[in-house]
Amino acid sequence: MNDLPAPPARTAVIIVAAGSGTRLAAGVPKALVPLGARTILEHALDGVLAAAPSQVVLVVPAGREAEVAAMAGDRPVRIVAGGDTRQRSVAAGLAALADGVEVVLVHDAARALTPPAQFTAVAIAVGPGIGVIPALPVVDTLKRVRGENVVAPVDRAELAAAQTPQGFPRAELLAAYAQATEQGVEYTDDAALFAAAGGAVRHVLGSEEAFKITTPHDLERARMILSSSARFSAEGPVVPRIGIGTDVHAFAAGGTLRLAGLDWPGEPALDGHSDGDAVAHAIVDALLGAAGLGDIGQHFGTAHPEYAGAHGDVFLARTAEILAEAGFAIGNVSVQFQGNRPRFSARRAEAERALSAALGGASVAVSATTTDGLGFPGRGEGIAVTAVALVHPIAQS
Ligand code: CTP
Ligand code: MG
Repeated sequence: MNDLPAPPARTAVIIVAAGSGTRLAAGVPKALVPLGARTILEHALDGVLAAAPSQVVLVVPAGREAEVAAMAGDRPVRIVAGGDTRQRSVAAGLAALADGVEVVLVHDAARALTPPAQFTAVAIAVGPGIGVIPALPVVDTLKRVRGENVVAPVDRAELAAAQTPQGFPRAELLAAYAQATEQGVEYTDDAALFAAAGGAVRHVLGSEEAFKITTPHDLERARMILSSSARFSAEGPVVPRIGIGTDVHAFAAGGTLRLAGLDWPGEPALDGHSDGDAVAHAIVDALLGAAGLGDIGQHFGTAHPEYAGAHGDVFLARTAEILAEAGFAIGNVSVQFQGNRPRFSARRAEAERALSAALGGASVAVSATTTDGLGFPGRGEGIAVTAVALVHPIAQS
């Protein structure tokens, strides 16, 4: 699946996802907020699964267990309800650990883009009596303040920003949790709780991508990262997708040609259920194919009489919408037609602008060629078109 070193056997990951997301204020619990085509929790889960732990426990908002189970599908996870503080949610996760687990990593679902390697790095550094956190050096200059006054500088060399997953030997973490519960103390993170019970805590280098989605601005940052770079999921890297589409239409006896989003007065029309714009139709198939969303017949064929006689531009605009609804943005489209007519080059820029506008501004390149008199395009009987399209997963809200 990937080339990460395997984490130690018998390592479980508890993903805490039971928070309400007050600061994100998205109207649903934070873990269930969409990030691209999937939820924050699904991104977090896929990052965890890519690290191949021996068990994954999902701690979710009470009452949302069935919804999360449906989302998880056949991914191997145990789902339990969380509590009203993070510490209680972790405790609920600890109670669901399988026999034989020796190392426990506690991870915030809100750190949805944490690289799989970070789990492995933490897990292998855990030892008897030793907890491990990933942390980043602090880059800002820090000040101690009181009210509106700056009262002292703070030496940032002594500080580090803690992330998750935080890893611990199971038995000692359970003992530390039991102690905290008994004393009724709430700690800011698992490392603080573990240290309070006498454990040592070390740090390994965290990563920028493991930032916690807390505010709407953080969510936007996560969306930008997702839409601009290849990401890893349990199925492997999420990369742009390519599609191909072809179309052939015969010339009709009369009418006016409609091709590549333009009218061509003086040229005979192409036959077709719609306006016969074979260039637009090939692009539609390339885009739908790239996104794995079927083909032109399925979305615009005779079963959809509302599209009879419709312009290719209408198909293109609707196709762009279908892709957006499924979480894809159009990268670019390249299309070429074979035919003796129309003479294309003088109107290339105009055609590219028209097709691009119909697709909501995507980059479209069009070229034309003849076939040296060969085949049906060479005999002037019709036009053959080939299109390729690149699409990529996008952020959706
Ligand atoms: N968490 C949890 N149970 C809680 C509170 C928090 O499982 N009772 C989880 C969150 O789901 C999140 C992680 O702990 O993955 C870190 O918490 P935070 O970022 O503070 O999330 P929320 O508590 O949901 O957000 P907010 O504080 O803005 O309400
Ligand atoms: Mg919180």
